[in-house]
This record gives sequence, structure tokens and C-alpha cells, in this order.
Amino acid sequence: MELRKFVAPEIITGYEASLLVGRYLNHFASKRPMIVTDANVIKYEWFQQIINSVNESVEDYVLYTEVTVNPKDYEAMKGAEVFLSKGCDLIIAIGGGSPMDCAKCISIVSTNGGHILDYEGVDVINLPGPPLICIPTTAGTSADVSQFAIINDDVEQLKKAIISKKVVPDLALIDPVPLMTMDFYLTACTGMDALTHAIEAYVSNAQSSITDVHALEAIKLIHHHIFDACSQNRTIETMYQMMMASLSAGLAFSNASLGAVHALAHSLGGRLNLPHGECNSILLDRVIELNYESAKERYDTIAQILGIDTSSPDGSKDGLIQYIQHMRHQINIQNQIVLSEFAGKKESREKLLHELVIGAMNDPCMVTNPKELSYDEVRNIYEQIF
Ligand SMILES: [Fe+2]
Repeated sequence: MELRKFVAPEIITGYEASLLVGRYLNHFASKRPMIVTDANVIKYEWFQQIINSVNESVEDYVLYTEVTVNPKDYEAMKGAEVFLSKGCDLIIAIGGGSPMDCAKCISIVSTNGGHILDYEGVDVINLPGPPLICIPTTAGTSADVSQFAIINDDVEQLKKAIISKKVVPDLALIDPVPLMTMDFYLTACTGMDALTHAIEAYVSNAQSSITDVHALEAIKLIHHHIFDACSQNRTIETMYQMMMASLSAGLAFSNASLGAVHALAHSLGGRLNLPHGECNSILLDRVIELNYESAKERYDTIAQILGIDTSSPDGSKDGLIQYIQHMRHQINIQNQIVLSEFAGKKESREKLLHELVIGAMNDPCMVTNPKELSYDEVRNIYEQIF
């Protein structure tokens, strides 16, 4: 009966939900929204249809596409400058985690001033930003429903987490249509990210009965649909189920927080500019190996949903690890990271490993991991993947 809170935005799910954006611009009385997206997204037909919906409601909008993978602090700072100088009054984020996280950061700075990195940590933001509508185009990051915004400190090359109710969007329009054009590898990485969200939220020290329901639902849906989603067998129904999985996982982790997989992935992805989902995929089984005894019953419940035998006296640890490895192999995500630039350079490798461990140990996601990990344990995981 420990105190827990649960925060979520208004959510609309379903076929062509994204095309309701125009109607909501009217609800928010927006005159000049800013659309935050990336250069890749704007080429698709569904993107044009979303713009058509925007055009039906407003005479003018500002398009901001200067967002890259693992969005950088200076991209958010420039976005905030554009938002203010153009007199925008609302933000629409269209894309995967990068545009949505960048949009959240633009919202913070445009209202509170200062530098985006001033807001790192939990509940540091004073004022809520302008209305924020998120249209996710990948099924994994769940930035569209979460209290998290992740931004890269370009000087330190570290991902910084901003965690606050004030970065929860006002509206999430969750539409499976954009997922049909997503390539298989991105589908695989984002799907594994969602699975990691659900597992880490379920074993988190901050879980609650409400987050548990969403976490287990997400695991079930990903188990049933990820293989088809990453193949020619995909249908709009499959992608809808993946979107629902991502949504459930997002509601779970936004409120229960995450764990060591994300702490290590943030450090790794920030330092080496690697895709977030790929980092999680490679780390997930290695962290379960370490964590298992600290949350045995919870991992066994997850294993049962995945159809793994839990009757052995040792529980489900081996089965669970094998399942993750099998899934990663089936959806063509590599097992290790090849750092050719560090080959034969022992000193550089040592320095990198040390920096990665320090980054992970200081990440706020580490706080809710079910087991307190030592420097050597974290270092050992990184050594396994290089
Ligand atoms: Fe994630």
C-alpha cells in the first residue's frame, strides 16, 4: 500500500487516428502550430494526409525538421528559438522517439527559458509548456504517453533524462497506418524497446497494480505479434497490435520507471550514437541474468506469458534468456557491438568502458532496478557485448 501515482495523456487509438489532428487544433484554439519531425518522415503519403488535416484548421504552420537520431541539446535549443520567433502556440510531434523527445524539450525551453540541460532529473521543470500533440510513427518509444524526455548532451556525449509530469503530452493520436511503411529493422528495434519497457516496468521497485496490468498486456501482445510485424506477413491489424503493445508498455514504464537495461543503453547509445532499441536488445538478456534472483517471482510470471516452462527448481532464468536471444536472432538484431575503431587499442577501450559504466551508474533509471548493481557488474555486461 505504498503511495503511487499514475499519469497519462488523452489518448485516441485506431485506424487513421492521426487525421483527427485538425479537429484538435480547433479544440486548442491554435492559430500557428509548430510541427516537429525529421527529414525521413516527411516523404510518406500518410505524412501529407496529416498535413492536409492541419491545413483544414489553420492558415499557417511552422515545420521544424532539424532533428536527428538521438536528438541533441542544440537541436532542441534551436527549435525553441524558432518556436518563439515565429509566434507558435502549440507543438505537434510526428515521428519516432527522437522528434517526440525533441518536441518535449522545445516545449520546456520555450516556456521556462534557460538551457535544456538545466532541466535534467526528476521534477525540475516549473511551468507547463504549450499544448503538445504527439503522433507516434514507430511502435516502441512511447514518448507520446510518457513522463520522460531523453536528450543528448553534445559536449559530454551523454544522454540526459528529463522526468516530469510536465512533459506528458496533452494528446496522443495512435494510428497504425504509419507503421506499414516502417522498415523491418526499425520495427524489430522499436519492438524490442517496447518489450524492454514492459519487462523493466514489471520488475521495477516502483511498480504498482495499475502499471502491472499494462506491462503484462504489452508482453503478451509483443510475444504474439513481433515476428509477423518484422516480416512480409505484417498486416494493418498486426501493426495495430504492436502499437497497442507499445502504448501499454509506455503507460507502465512512464509510471513505474525503468531499470538497468535502460541505464546501460542510455550511456551506450549516448556515447556511441547507436539506435536506442538496438542497445536495449543487446543488453536485455544480460541484465536479466544478473537481476533474476532479485525479482524471481516476477520474472517467472513474465516467462509464463511467453510460454516458458517455469517448473524447474531454478525457475525460468535460462528459459527467459534463451527466449530473448531467440527473438533477437529471429528479427535479425545483432548479438554484439563491433567497435572496430577500438580494435587493438587497449587504453582507449579501457577509457570507454570506464566512461560507459559511470554514465550508467548515474542514470536515473538505475534507481528502480530490482537489484543494486556494482561497478564491476555493470562493467562486466559491457565487456560481454564488445
Ligand atoms: Fe526505451
